[in-house]
Amino acid sequence: MSTAPDTPPVLTFSNVALGYGDFTVLSQINLTVQRGQVVGMMGGSGSGKTTLLRGATGQILAQQGTITAFGQNLAEVTTEGLRALRQRMGVLFQQGALFTDLNVFENVAFPLREHTRDTENIVTEKVLDKLDAVGLRAAAHLNISEISGGMARRVALARAIVLEPELILYDEPFAGLDPISLGITAQLIRSLTDRLNCASVMITHDVPETFEIADHVYVVGQGKLMASGSPSELANSTDPYVHQFLNGEPDGPIAFHYPVTPAFSTWLDQRKAK
Ligand SMILES: Nc1ncnc2c1ncn2[C@@H]1O[C@H](COP(=O)(O)OP(=O)(O)O)[C@@H](O)[C@H]1O
Ligand SMILES: [Mg+2]
Repeated sequence: MSTAPDTPPVLTFSNVALGYGDFTVLSQINLTVQRGQVVGMMGGSGSGKTTLLRGATGQILAQQGTITAFGQNLAEVTTEGLRALRQRMGVLFQQGALFTDLNVFENVAFPLREHTRDTENIVTEKVLDKLDAVGLRAAAHLNISEISGGMARRVALARAIVLEPELILYDEPFAGLDPISLGITAQLIRSLTDRLNCASVMITHDVPETFEIADHVYVVGQGKLMASGSPSELANSTDPYVHQFLNGEPDGPIAFHYPVTPAFSTWLDQRKAK
């Protein structure tokens, strides 16, 4: 998809380090996300994928380097500015929890009621339109207890896009889905990206689904960016780490052991001192 040359990338990380307190999870991260792209951020469990997402939304600040969203440095925006930027982002969290006391329609309407002064007619139109996009228009009246897990994921997706964000961040959108729902969700992410001409960043460890729909894939591991490229470039990579990750092989450079952190060392020292 082409972008006007003067349009800043939707998201950039420039030599970024991210972590918690004195613990650095990832460093030297460089990445760019453009409008119209589906980008996969992949890596094993605990490699720092959710941490990347928190950096992109400004929930945590870079320990080093610069993160920009819509051309603005997240470390320099005011609280008000950050709120305005976040309104341009839709986030589908790992536990995309729906409000169980609201029906499907009201769940999707929720962000509109929070952030806009849309009339009831407009709300109805927008919500039914987004439910239609995920194939659930006729499920609008159902209670959350009446829908399946795969349907709930699609309702959460409709809710994430109802404000028509320019950037949608998905944290493990395929987790816990059966193979059919998984394929449907992947195709939905692609079609919504094309339809809204937004950018989608998917944080996931599901290789086949990501490779099917992504324009570009980044792989994190061992505290850094291990690989970056189109799905076909990565599939042809001879790097042993990339190969092990993509093929899910048990033996290779990916460590089985959770890494030792300063917090662990402190905890262990305290235990031993008892
Ligand atoms: N709020 C937090 N405070 C301290 N450490 C955290 C926090 N969240 C995650 N971590 C640590 O950061 C590392 C990366 O976690 P995370 O980004 O959740 O990984 P992933 O999403 O790839 O499974 C892990 O070692 C995890 O324990
Ligand atoms: Mg995670």
